[in-house]
Amino acid sequence: MHNVLTILATASLLLSACCSGGDKAKAVYLDYEAPIEERVEDALSRMTLEEKVAIVHAQSKFSSAGVPRLGIPTLWTSDGPHGVRAEVLWDKWSQAKWTNDSCVAFPALTCLAASWDRELAALYGRSIGEEAKYRNKHVLLGPGVNIYRTPLNGRNFEYMGEDPYLASQMVVPYVKGVQSNNVAACVKHYALNNEEECRHTTDVDLSDRALYEIYLPAFKAAVQEGGAWSIMGAYNLYRGQHLCHNKRMLKDILKGEWGFDGAVVSDWGGAHDSDEAIANGLDLEFGTWTDGLFTGPSNVYAQYHLANPYLERLRDGRASEEELNDKCRRVLRLMMRTSMSGNNSLGEMCSEAHYAAARKIGAEGIVLLKNDNGLLPVQPGVRKIAVMGENAIKMMTVGGGSSSLKAQHEISPLKGISDRAAAAGIEVKYARAYVGSTDGSQDGITAGVKINEDRDAQTLAAEALELARESDLVIFVGGLNKNKRQDCEGCDREFLDLPYNQSELVAALAAVNPNIVVCLVSGNAVTMPWLDAVPSVVQAWYCGSEAGNSLADVLFGDVCPSGKLPFTFPAALADSPAHQEGMQFPNPDKVYYKEGIYVGYRWFEHKDIKPLFAFGHGLSYTSFQYGDAKLSSSTMKRGGSITVSIPVTNTGKCAGAEVVQLYVTDDECSVDRPEKELKGFEKVFLQPGESTVVKIALDESALQYFDEQAHRWVAEKGRFTVQVGSASDDIRSTASFELR
Ligand code: BGC
Repeated sequence: MHNVLTILATASLLLSACCSGGDKAKAVYLDYEAPIEERVEDALSRMTLEEKVAIVHAQSKFSSAGVPRLGIPTLWTSDGPHGVRAEVLWDKWSQAKWTNDSCVAFPALTCLAASWDRELAALYGRSIGEEAKYRNKHVLLGPGVNIYRTPLNGRNFEYMGEDPYLASQMVVPYVKGVQSNNVAACVKHYALNNEEECRHTTDVDLSDRALYEIYLPAFKAAVQEGGAWSIMGAYNLYRGQHLCHNKRMLKDILKGEWGFDGAVVSDWGGAHDSDEAIANGLDLEFGTWTDGLFTGPSNVYAQYHLANPYLERLRDGRASEEELNDKCRRVLRLMMRTSMSGNNSLGEMCSEAHYAAARKIGAEGIVLLKNDNGLLPVQPGVRKIAVMGENAIKMMTVGGGSSSLKAQHEISPLKGISDRAAAAGIEVKYARAYVGSTDGSQDGITAGVKINEDRDAQTLAAEALELARESDLVIFVGGLNKNKRQDCEGCDREFLDLPYNQSELVAALAAVNPNIVVCLVSGNAVTMPWLDAVPSVVQAWYCGSEAGNSLADVLFGDVCPSGKLPFTFPAALADSPAHQEGMQFPNPDKVYYKEGIYVGYRWFEHKDIKPLFAFGHGLSYTSFQYGDAKLSSSTMKRGGSITVSIPVTNTGKCAGAEVVQLYVTDDECSVDRPEKELKGFEKVFLQPGESTVVKIALDESALQYFDEQAHRWVAEKGRFTVQVGSASDDIRSTASFELR
C-alpha cells in the first residue's frame, strides 16, 4: 500500500513541477522517454547552487534529498547484500518498528560464490532487487567483492571469495539482476578493505600488480560489464589517503581508466576531509558522525563535508561549480536510472518465488568437503538421527553488522532436518552440546528463537555423548556465528580454530559414534584437528531464511551437492599469506601486502603449502569423468581466441552438477607468475550416464599480467598450458598452445 501512495505522491509533485508558472520550458528531466543525459542536463540547468549541494550529501541515515521544488524525489538507500534491511529511525540506527518491513534473507555472498553459477547470481540479484523495489529503495548497498586475503576478516562472509575471476563472474549478473528493477547496486567496499578491526585507520600499500590483478578486477567487472550505477568507497586508507576520497582510486582508476559514470557513495562515516572529498571524486556523502545528532555537531547534515563546508568553498572560490556539476550529474544520473526512471512496478516482497530462490541458491552453494564411506546422503537404514550443536538452533540472519536482517522467517538447521526426517519416518533428537553465544539481537531486532541455556558445559557434553551413542547418525551443526569476533563487521576473528571448544567436542563425539557429519555454518575457514576421525564434513555457510531447508536438501540427497570452495582452507593460520612471518594482524596503521599477487591458492601453490581444502574443492554424491581437453587450435593470434573443449560424463548413480574449472599457466614468462590462475568455468547438470562437451573460450585477456612499468596489461608470446579439473588441486586434463 505504501508503495502506491508513494507513487501517487511523486506523480502529483511532478505534475505540479511541470505546470507551475514561471518556468515554461519543457521539463525534459521529467520525461521518462527522453535520453538520460538530456534529462540530467535539463535538471542540472534548473538547480540553484544550494539545491546542487543538497543532493550530494545525506539528509538522514539512509536518504539524501531530492529537489522538492523540481519534484525530484528523495533518494532512498538500504543495506544490503543479503536482504533489504529493516527500517531504522530517521537519524538513528534503532528500529523504526514498522510491522511490514520483514524480508527474505538470501544466502550470504560466500555461499552464492560457492555455487559457481552465474544464473543463480542473476536470480539472486533480480530477487533482492524486487524486494528493494517493493520497499521503495533506490540504491541497494551491495554486493561486496573485497578479496578474501585472510581467514580472520570478520566480513568475509559478505564477499565472494579469494579469486578475482570468480568474483568478477559472479558479481556481474548480480548487479544486472538488481538493476533490472531500476534499483541501483552499490558495489562495495572499493577497495582493499580486507580486514575490519582497525578499518578506519588501516593504511594499505601494495604493488600495482597485486592491485590490478587481484584486488580490482571484480570492481572493474561490476562497473564495466555489470554497468553498476553506484559504488561505495571503503573505510580504510590506501597510500595515506582515505578510500572515500582517494584520488588515485576514484579519479584516476575508477572514473579515469574505467570510465565509471555512476555515483561514488561514501561508506557510512567514511568521509573525513572536505577538500579531499570535494577534489578526489566523492559524489554522495553518507553517515558522517554516524550517530547523527547525538554525537556529531548540531545540525549535523548541514555540517557534512559536502554540505555547508562545500558551499563556503564554492562561494569564496576555493571550489569550482564545474566540479560540483560533475558530482550532481552523477547523482542525477543515479536518480534518473532509479527513483526517476518511470518504472512504477511494485516489485515483490517475501514471495514464494523469493523463498524458492533463496533455498535453491543455498543448496547449490553448500559444499561437501569430505564424504567417506558414503555416509551422506542419509542412508535408508538410518532410523535415529542426533542433531547437535548451537548452530542447529541459532538464528543467523540477525547480527554480523550492517547485513543484519529482520527476516520474515528463518528455518533453522534443526527444523529443516527434523521436517525432512519426519517425512522419511526417521526420529530426530537434539542435544545442544555446547554454549557459544546466546546473544541474538542487533539494533533492536531480536532473533525469534531464544537460546538461553543454564546447564554447564560438562552436563551439555555428557548429554550429547549419551545421545550420540544411541543414534545411528550424528549431525553436528557448529562453526562460527554472527557475534563479535566471529563473522561480524567491525571486528575480526582472533584465531582460526573453531570457538567454544567445538573441536574437542567433535573429537569426543566421533570417538563414541564414528557415523558423524560435521556441518560448519560460517563464512570463513576454520581448522579441523578432528578431520581424520570424521567421515563427512559439509560447509553450510549462512543460508538465510531457508537455511535449514537448503541444508536438509543436501544432507538427504534431494539436491546433489555441487558447491565448490571460493577460498582456500589453510591447515594453520601461519600458512596464510597475510599471516606469514613478519606480518602483523590486525593492522592499526600501515600494512604492506608483501605477498603481492600470491593471494589464496596462488600463494599455497607458489609456496608448495598443502591446504586443508583447496580453492575450488567440493564433492558430489555422483562422480564425473573428464575426457581429454582439446583446443580449437595449437596457436592463438594476437587479438584472437581459442576454445577449450572438455568432455564430461556423469559416471555415478544420481543426477548432479559439476563445475568444470579451467586454469591457465604461463609457461614462458619474463616475470613471476602464479602456478596457475582461474580463467574459465562452467557448471553443467548431467543425468546419470549423460555426457556433454563443455566449451570454454579464452582470449588474450586470460593470458595477461599487469606490467607495472608500462602500466598496461601484457600477454607475452610463448607457450601457455590450460589445466582443466574439478578443483584447483584436482586437475584432470591439460593441453597447451602458443601465443604468437
Ligand atoms: C558498512 C556498509 C554499510 C553501511 C550502511 C557501514 O558501516 O561498512 O557496508 O552499507 O554501514 O549501513
